Amino acid sequence: MTDPLVAVRPWEAPEVTSWGRLPMNAVDRRSGALPLDGDWRFQLLPAPDAPVGGAWATAHVPGAWTVQDTDDLPQYTNVRMPFPEFPPHSPATNPTGVYERELDVPAAWAGRRIVLQVGAAESVLLVHVDGRPVGVSKDSHLAAEFDLTAFVSPGERSVLRLTVVKWSDATHIEDQDHWWHGGITRSVLLYATDPLRLADVTVRARRDGELRVDCLVRDDRGALPGGWYVTADLDGMLLAQDAGFDRRNAEDDRVSDFLGEARIHAVVPEVRTWNAEEPELYGLTVRLHRADGTVADTSYHRVGFRDVEIVGRDLLVNGERVFVRGVNRHDFHPLTGRTVSYDDMRADLVVLKRFGFNAIRTSHYPNDPALYDLADELGFYIVDEADIESHDHAHEIADDPRYLNAFVDRVSRMVLRDKNHPSVIIWSLGNESDYGANHDAAAGWVRRHDPTRPLQYEGAAKRGWADPDVASDIACPMYAPLEDCVAHALSGEQTKPLIQCEYSHAMGNSNGTLADHWAAIESTPGLQGGFIWEFWDHGILQRVSDGRPVGRTGAGLYDNGVAAPGHRWAYGGDFGEALHDGAFVADGIVFPDRTPKPAMYEHREVAAPVRIRCFRHEGVVLANHQHFRGLDWLTGTWELALADGRTLTGPARLPQLRPGETAAVPLPFAVPADGGEAWLTLRVTVAEDQAWAPAGTEVCAPGIRIRAAHAPERPVAAGPAVEVDREGLLRHPLLTAAPTLSLWRAPTDNDELGGMASRWRAWGLDRLVRKVVSVRRDGGSVAVVAQYAGTVGVVRHRQEFTPVEGGVRVDESAELPEEFSDVARVGSVFETVAGLDVLDWFGQGPWESYPDRAAGAPVGHHRLPVDELFTPYLRPQESGGRHGVRRFTLSAPDATVLAVELDEPRQVCVSRYRAEDLTAVTHHDELVPRAGCVVHIDAAHRGLGTASCGPDTFPSYLVAPGVHRWSWTLRVR
Ligand code: GAL
Ligand code: MG
Repeated sequence: MTDPLVAVRPWEAPEVTSWGRLPMNAVDRRSGALPLDGDWRFQLLPAPDAPVGGAWATAHVPGAWTVQDTDDLPQYTNVRMPFPEFPPHSPATNPTGVYERELDVPAAWAGRRIVLQVGAAESVLLVHVDGRPVGVSKDSHLAAEFDLTAFVSPGERSVLRLTVVKWSDATHIEDQDHWWHGGITRSVLLYATDPLRLADVTVRARRDGELRVDCLVRDDRGALPGGWYVTADLDGMLLAQDAGFDRRNAEDDRVSDFLGEARIHAVVPEVRTWNAEEPELYGLTVRLHRADGTVADTSYHRVGFRDVEIVGRDLLVNGERVFVRGVNRHDFHPLTGRTVSYDDMRADLVVLKRFGFNAIRTSHYPNDPALYDLADELGFYIVDEADIESHDHAHEIADDPRYLNAFVDRVSRMVLRDKNHPSVIIWSLGNESDYGANHDAAAGWVRRHDPTRPLQYEGAAKRGWADPDVASDIACPMYAPLEDCVAHALSGEQTKPLIQCEYSHAMGNSNGTLADHWAAIESTPGLQGGFIWEFWDHGILQRVSDGRPVGRTGAGLYDNGVAAPGHRWAYGGDFGEALHDGAFVADGIVFPDRTPKPAMYEHREVAAPVRIRCFRHEGVVLANHQHFRGLDWLTGTWELALADGRTLTGPARLPQLRPGETAAVPLPFAVPADGGEAWLTLRVTVAEDQAWAPAGTEVCAPGIRIRAAHAPERPVAAGPAVEVDREGLLRHPLLTAAPTLSLWRAPTDNDELGGMASRWRAWGLDRLVRKVVSVRRDGGSVAVVAQYAGTVGVVRHRQEFTPVEGGVRVDESAELPEEFSDVARVGSVFETVAGLDVLDWFGQGPWESYPDRAAGAPVGHHRLPVDELFTPYLRPQESGGRHGVRRFTLSAPDATVLAVELDEPRQVCVSRYRAEDLTAVTHHDELVPRAGCVVHIDAAHRGLGTASCGPDTFPSYLVAPGVHRWSWTLRVR
């Protein structure tokens, strides 16, 4: 007999969002549940209607089968669907996982209502018990519950089968930009309730202490028994049910006997309010009592008292116009693909807190439920986004009535699940699905059900940032040019808060102009922030030998952003996919193992809670840049770096300041009258343990220049003549390649996808042909003129080598023709002998920094092994640069020191790789480090921008044609 669940082909029926599934609710069922996670019998069928065979393997639940030992491997496509069928169709070859296990229902559950919860299944779930059909569910990122009471017998064993169909009509609205997987990706559990139960609990807690708890009560035996009531306790304070609310429709006297409503209303005196800086939570236990007072059901909630409202064009939390320092986050893990543990999520949020983030957009589906608990607890504002992205067929689907149910279903189920979290401050209808009637239907549902939170949807906001009639209370563009945002805010037309749902694309070496964005946001009323795209580089740990994902057992096979030898971080195409979108899946501000990229330090600084306003003789003026907190949770250390090499340090006492206040504080040392250029850095650390950082954790390091450099003395000619060969190349015992001109960098992802790299290649900048024009000696000095020819232009390059005490001074100039209107860099590159393995520098650091991403790297004396300067971006590219370098040394264990003094602060890069080494490979593990150092000293270096998706860097960070001059001195000590 054909299985009826298969016979109706629910995977090609968008109208069918579920069958036999219980309504979503916010009652917490975790305690007392029977976990069903672990190894299940498993087989992978080629199609949902293929017969189930007799041969079983095992699969771990929760977990995608695509990273377990099957032949269906992960695939990455962005906009494009992975199959050609139009909605609502799916391909005939459609991997379908059959999971089976025994279900031993506790005898103690006799008389109780028994419910199966499947945390998430991708993309259609069919449930059978002992071969009998139980139900169907779609919506790959929300739990599905089924009442098994009629299917199982307490004290007996049943067989539970979960069939998961990978491709379906639903796949067309789950076309988010990440890996395609299949399987059960969140936990499965079984729980029991009394037939008389809490069907839902809605908690509303306002900043004035008002608390409303609305409970829905049902009894599965039929009519509700008389006399039931609800109580609650809030941190030990007993709250009683309001009279007159025990029946639905009580207000108009039509009595329902199957759905009871109970309301608890209380005002908490002197309430401690919740906000992302001080996430104060209260514990609320709701109890449903039978008439005799015994407890039939309980639900535990953590409550945060807070208000969210839009007033004018400001989004206010507790009346404060908070800045939204957000990031987009996927549920991602390099071993499991999708499945994330509580500890993983906690670690994600801890990193985000430490780097100054206060907001998360759950791109582009409801995240694992624990994430919201953690966000409540650690303090984040969440934009909760429904699981709707129909990117490839957006226009057709937005108005397709066959998908209407799915839109309303997905948005409403998210709201029903997450409505009690104080962290959730905004609902989002989804992502990149055009805008149609299906959105308005879903928006209508939310507005009626939850009037306490604003709603946003980028696809609607795009119709007009100020349009009052679209389904978005927020102007939430993605990658809007900063000048457009500022212009809108200044136009007088703005009606809604402007908070970009995506900005600053973090692919590879990126996030240029982040500080410029924040300078504008903080100084332009109407601009309130945005969400960086995105948190994760979605690299999946892969064995190089057989190309397979390592899977769950790979912990320990990576460290510091780098996969262990024999492994690599796979991106699109690495699993042999015929159709894929390459490294575009690696676009996060953390590596696949959560190691922060240097851009994180930039964010940390632009989000700094304490800022240095200015330096006066009596001290430094500090400002509290938080919204709610004082500075008492912070302490600090002053560091004064002097050009002469000294660093003075001393403890900082942070003043008592309310948000927005400033005060002058004295320094613990006198600033020496001598020593040249002087930079002051305040290393701000956590004074007392926070939930997300132990005392001593650095949270920001604002700096200020307190004395400018004197005009550098040009060392005068002295010493033996400089050795230059017939080609005009400098000969030096510590150099293996003489300094030559470089206009090229290994293109970053932004350079490639923004089109710059192809221009540079077309101009021949990666293979300039050098021809010496003249070599003139004048005393000990030598002047060399050379031409560097590209395909369209010729650069005239002049180097003058002058012997100075202990070394040689190099004065250079390069004249770029108009054709070379926007190049990667203009500077010198040379290579050193092996052994010079430690870099000391006076300049910005210690993090990697670039001209348009240099706010997070204070000026000081820094030291790092050369091997640690490099950032292992997944697709090798320009990496490891340091901005604002005044001088540096490279030293060897035998005390040989090569010292370079620069005429002014310059972009310097010391690396084990030539640009061509980086461009020759596609993955980090293929790189072979050179023994010596490749050193770049740049007169000008192009900003990084974010052109892989979004605006390029600003004109001020471009390298212009014309004459560039720079000089430097090379000495051996
Ligand atoms: C956005 C999209 C994201 C991601 C990003 C590029 O348009 O919403 O999901 O694709 O671009 O990385
Ligand atoms: Mg998309």
